[in-house]
Amino acid sequence: MGGVRPNITKHRGEVDRGTRRKALGQKGALVWLTGLSGSGKSTVAFRAERALVERRRATYVLDGDNVRHGLNRDLDFSAEARAENIRRIGEVAKLFVDAEIIVLAAFISPYREDRARVRSLLEPGEFVETYVNAPLSVCEGRDPKGLYRKARAGEVGQFTGISAPYEAPEHPEINLPTDSMDVDACAAEIVAYLEQSGFLAGG
Ligand code: ADX
Repeated sequence: MGGVRPNITKHRGEVDRGTRRKALGQKGALVWLTGLSGSGKSTVAFRAERALVERRRATYVLDGDNVRHGLNRDLDFSAEARAENIRRIGEVAKLFVDAEIIVLAAFISPYREDRARVRSLLEPGEFVETYVNAPLSVCEGRDPKGLYRKARAGEVGQFTGISAPYEAPEHPEINLPTDSMDVDACAAEIVAYLEQSGFLAGG
């Protein structure tokens, strides 16, 4: 996997990125939301998606629970399977970004190395690491899916924060303390970052 593919060539289309950006009036980006289960990644991603669509921007959420029902249904929660989960999402997101879509990816993605590998797939500036930052005690208190309770009871293994590690981002582009910031404010922060960085205009 991942090596040189001698019998496979690459096709280049007739539309370059600049032309597509002008036509669509935006630039593709990958907003990568990482954080513990229950930290609010999906909620913030879907709210930001709505805010962007209200501004007539083309955007799409890739979400851990959804992707694990389809594309990545064969993967469990071992470190190796999580790396493969994130690798595939990174490749899918790269295609979306090439199509100049603003992608909001919501995955625990607990390993720094896996996130760094996705960053390296994209052009500088296109990967926007967003730390959905709530303390474990808050996430466990929310326990929206009852999984922390099961993890504590030993009914779910390799659970992030309990029996598997979470490596917090060291220098995220965006930090969202969801225990003190509401969903709309978090979504607004993402939209403001994209606007200031020029992604919401095509020229
Ligand atoms: S990741 O670590 O590979 O990035 P991902 O975001 O795709 O994880 O999936 C996390 C979701 O799977 C959680 O929100 C939770 O609902 C569910 N889940 C089931 N088992 C586990 C586990 N052992 N650790 C973490 N999440 C789990």
